[in-house]
Amino acid sequence: MRIGFFDSGIGGLTVLHQALKIMPQEDYLFYADTAHVPYGEKTKEEVREYILNAADFIADHHVKALVVACNTATSIVIEELRTRYDFPILGIEPAVKPAVEKSEKKQKKVLVLATRLTLQEKKYHDLVHRIDHGEIVDSLPLPGLVQFAENFEFDEEKIIPYLKKELSGFDMQQYGTVVLGCTHFPYFTDSLRKIFPEHVDFISGSIGTAKHLHRILEVKDQVNQGTGDILYYKSDVKVEDPFTLSKYHNLFQLLDEF
Ligand code: DGL
Repeated sequence: MRIGFFDSGIGGLTVLHQALKIMPQEDYLFYADTAHVPYGEKTKEEVREYILNAADFIADHHVKALVVACNTATSIVIEELRTRYDFPILGIEPAVKPAVEKSEKKQKKVLVLATRLTLQEKKYHDLVHRIDHGEIVDSLPLPGLVQFAENFEFDEEKIIPYLKKELSGFDMQQYGTVVLGCTHFPYFTDSLRKIFPEHVDFISGSIGTAKHLHRILEVKDQVNQGTGDILYYKSDVKVEDPFTLSKYHNLFQLLDEF
């Protein structure tokens, strides 16, 4: 059986990329809800509806687990999804805990970059409340990066001016760790590195999610001996044209460079 991966768009490939490194022998179904991206700029009610429809579609394809490779979707429906299906459902959330630990050692602050919806949600506020006792966590939505990624626009000449503008009110020397709290953001790690001082670490939850998935499959004795085959869907349409498939393939190569 395949493992389902789900995101509003190509951000989820940054998590699938980590899963493929640990579990190259698994087969995957990757669903990008491109008919409705960006989730981060929509209402919670709209997004919930999209996610439930997508998850039902994926469940109909008989997956053995579902990774919600989207921080925004996780913050809205992860508990509801867990009651809806009988296979394991894994989510991803901004890696605030390791970021606070790292920054405290450096006596610096944490900046969480995510979508507007993630940052508004109770799940995020509860997480920060539990961990951020020294009040060192700031946050910033960066919807432009989701748009750039969806347009396959990774040219630093466009990305860096956007980031500089969005970050103009922040004193970047204050930060020790930046959390990539949206799965679309790791594509821009190089550009972010050029903007922030050298002492800044960048953290995302994707490795943790991939490792967690591996552990679950081991415990359930469901490790596969497949070939790392991936079926791609853009909303409920199967992606078969070689041009789009090669663009996805290039994204994995881009991620390998970081
Ligand atoms: N990739 C998603 C996340 O991790 C959401 C991007 C969007 O659709 O706004 O939050």
